[in-house]
Order: sequence, then structure tokens, then C-alpha cells
Amino acid sequence: MSNQNQRAVAATIDLSNSESPIWDDHQAAFYLKGIEQSDYAEKVGASLLEVIGTQTNLLDIGAGVGTVSRRIIADNALWTAIEPNHFLASYLTSHAAKWSYQLSVMQSSWQRLTANEIKPHKTSLAANTSGPVYDTKSFWHWQRNYTKDLMIWIVPAQDGPRGKCLSGFLSPELHGEAVGSSLETIVDELDESMQPHQILTVDWTFRQDFSTHEEADQYFQHNFNATADPEKAQAIANYLTLHLQQEGEQFFASAAKKSAVLIWKFN
Ligand SMILES: C[S@@+](CC[C@H](N)C(=O)[O-])C[C@H]1O[C@@H](n2cnc3c(N)ncnc32)[C@H](O)[C@@H]1O
Repeated sequence: MSNQNQRAVAATIDLSNSESPIWDDHQAAFYLKGIEQSDYAEKVGASLLEVIGTQTNLLDIGAGVGTVSRRIIADNALWTAIEPNHFLASYLTSHAAKWSYQLSVMQSSWQRLTANEIKPHKTSLAANTSGPVYDTKSFWHWQRNYTKDLMIWIVPAQDGPRGKCLSGFLSPELHGEAVGSSLETIVDELDESMQPHQILTVDWTFRQDFSTHEEADQYFQHNFNATADPEKAQAIANYLTLHLQQEGEQFFASAAKKSAVLIWKFN
């Protein structure tokens, strides 16, 4: 890939009113380590590929490191990756030369990009990102504007919690998140003319390894016991003793996930 094809749009992200703030680099690195150990790409990517085939021109919104998108794009495909997080955008940029795609990385949220900056693409993908869940209607119109033929959303559809990657590993009292698939809410938000033409669901498992039991305990205490309540700290510690799995030197936690894949075909 030539450097000319890379475009990094530096942007100061201010989404302080958003329900889903952009990750910091620490959260992004945690996600990347986990998603690489999970069967997300293998299960969701393979199912999507079976339905839509290989793509040659993709706008990827909230691209992460292209875990799913790299399963569906052809060699030499034109791939525009919108990714606001610095760590993930840098990962894409630093891997671009090794990959056989014409990759443009735009480090920005979708809210900050306008028609002056992006052209319509044949296919667009928003996989497990905040737009479809928190800004359903306005995001739909925004994405439609930049899509010629095929538009795809991948959204959480498990019956369990859908906040943090590993909340589904914990019991409901410990994760404290709302539970239930977001699919119905999303579809209800959309007008008749905006309804997806096809929906499929795919089960997969998020898995995260920890080097030590203490590292796992620190992660869960930090993320699910923000006030350091001593009773809750003990309950989390007890739960980990019972449920954390050991494999060789490593400890791992996993959470069952379901993704709904929503597909619109315009041509
Ligand atoms: C769970 S990750 C999914 C990454 C990738 N699409 C995948 O399926 O593996 C969510 C991604 O959406 C990005 N994101 C969150 N809010 C965004 C926004 N407003 N605009 C663009 N991307 C956003 C995050 O930085 C993160 O990389």
C-alpha cells in the first residue's frame, strides 16, 4: 500500500454528551487482546462472508483493527477505516504496509466527518460500534449517504448484558448492567422505509486471558466495583475463585455473545 493512500485526520474528540464515550488507549488495548483470542472473526466474519461474498470497496465505521472487515475484503480492495481511538488507528496505519489492501485510516468519530472528507463507497460496515445503538436514526441516514449498494450493521443481540466485554462472565448482581438484546430496540427506532432487508444472528464467545489471578481480580474490581465497596470486593474475589478458568500458567474469563447482522441491499 502506498503512503499516498493513507490519510490520518487528527481530530480532538469531544463526545462528552454521548452515552458511549470513545475508549481510551488502555481500554482499546484490552479489547484488542481479547477479541484476538475470541472466535468473533471466525464466527461472525465467516457468516457475513457467506451471505455477501468478498467486497472490493468498503467504508468501515468504528473499524477497530478490522477484525471482521478483513474477513470480507478482497486483496487490493479499497478500504476506508474510520477509527477515533489513537491506539487502534495507529495499529491499522502501522499494519497497512503488510496488508494487501488500499487502506485509508481516518482517525475521527463518524460525527465529525462530512461529505467533503468521505466519498460514497460500494459497501459500508458498522460492526459492534456505538452509532447503530445510541444514534440509530441519525446514524442510519449518515451511513446511507455514503453507501451505494450494500450497508451492514453488526449489533449485540445476546440476552445477557452488553456493556463491557466481560460483563457476561459475571453474575447479574455483580455486573449490574441492563440485560437483553438491542436488536428489537434498534429495529423499532427505524421507520418502515429504513428496515433491514435481511437479519442473521451468530453466537460467539468473548475470551480474555490474564497472566495471574491477581491481574484478573484487579481488572474486575476496577471495572465492576468503582467505589471499592469492601463487600462487593469480597463477592467478586469469591466469584473469581469459583469461575476463573486456568489453562497452563494463564487464567481466562469468557462471556457468551450473540451478534445480529443487519443487511440493506440498495441495488
Ligand atoms: C467493539 S469495537 C469494534 C471494532 C470493530 N468494528 C470490530 O468489529 O472488531 C467498537 C469500535 O467503535 C469505535 N467507535 C466508538 N464510537 C465511535 C464513533 N462515534 N465513531 C466512530 N467509531 C467509534 C471504537 O473506537 C471501537 O474501535
